[in-house]
Amino acid sequence: MQRVRKAIIPAAGLGTRFLPATKAMPKEMLPIVDKPTIQYIVEEAIESGIEDIIIVTGKGKRAIEDHFDNAYELEQTLFNKEKFELLHKVQEPSKMADIHYIRQKEPKGLGHAVWCARNFIGNEPFAVLLGDDIVKAETPCLKQLINEHNRTHSSVIGVKRVPDNETNRYGIVDPIDQKGRSYQVNNFVEKPELGTAPSNLAIIGRYIFTPEIFMFLDKQEIGAGGEIQLTDAIQKLNQIQRVFAYEFEGKRYDVGEKLGFIETTIEFALENKELRDDLMKFMASKLEINH
Ligand code: UTP
Repeated sequence: MQRVRKAIIPAAGLGTRFLPATKAMPKEMLPIVDKPTIQYIVEEAIESGIEDIIIVTGKGKRAIEDHFDNAYELEQTLFNKEKFELLHKVQEPSKMADIHYIRQKEPKGLGHAVWCARNFIGNEPFAVLLGDDIVKAETPCLKQLINEHNRTHSSVIGVKRVPDNETNRYGIVDPIDQKGRSYQVNNFVEKPELGTAPSNLAIIGRYIFTPEIFMFLDKQEIGAGGEIQLTDAIQKLNQIQRVFAYEFEGKRYDVGEKLGFIETTIEFALENKELRDDLMKFMASKLEINH
């Protein structure tokens, strides 16, 4: 069986939920405390054993490439000023892994973004990670899915339970059989209307695919919202080979929308030794004012 060695990180979306911040800056570069969200994702991929990463970029996304490149002038200045700790932080992203780039010329949807990387993947199983979700877990989320793929030799979709009143924001799984955290699936439904969702198991931005997924992405069929939807291709793949849903362990942070982004920033800042005490004092003073 072939190992999962390659990962696609689609990052060519318009980021409309963060406009105007994302007019000239990729949403994937918005920082949680002092690290861009996409760096958390690349770190998870590497910690899961991924060796080659391809980031799907688009118009206005140059900053992502610069972030994972060397920055000679900055590095030299920090070296001259003997700021070695900062120098290390600046050099870290460029040393992470072999990162490749491909452009999606138009944001035609997530399914299309994944399809753009087909030649890089070739005929082997691969991972997809979305930057909208950061997952903190003892075993990295993607590694858990790779372990499940190694067990089942099938495509595996990462899922988490969401509140019933949020199921219309996600791709939702209609499970038929459960073994521990693993589900066999009858249907995958993209953003079902409230009250119609077959479960509250939501697809959360981590996937392992067999290369057969490209047979369906090749067709470039337009789905919900006028976009080429990855969930539609998953549903079709599930009709010719088993696709499992895996309820991964760990805490998931939804950084793709504003409130989730702010909550994550606060939580990560509270875990930072340098910020924690002052931030607690600040929040306590705000709470006093409001009471
Ligand atoms: P989202 O829908 O969350 O991202 O897509 P978006 O479109 O950038 O954000 P909003 O909804 O307008 O605020 C999930 C992931 O798929 C990528 C996005 O960059 C994001 O990482 N994506 C989406 C593409 O790469 N290409 C697309 O055409 C659409």
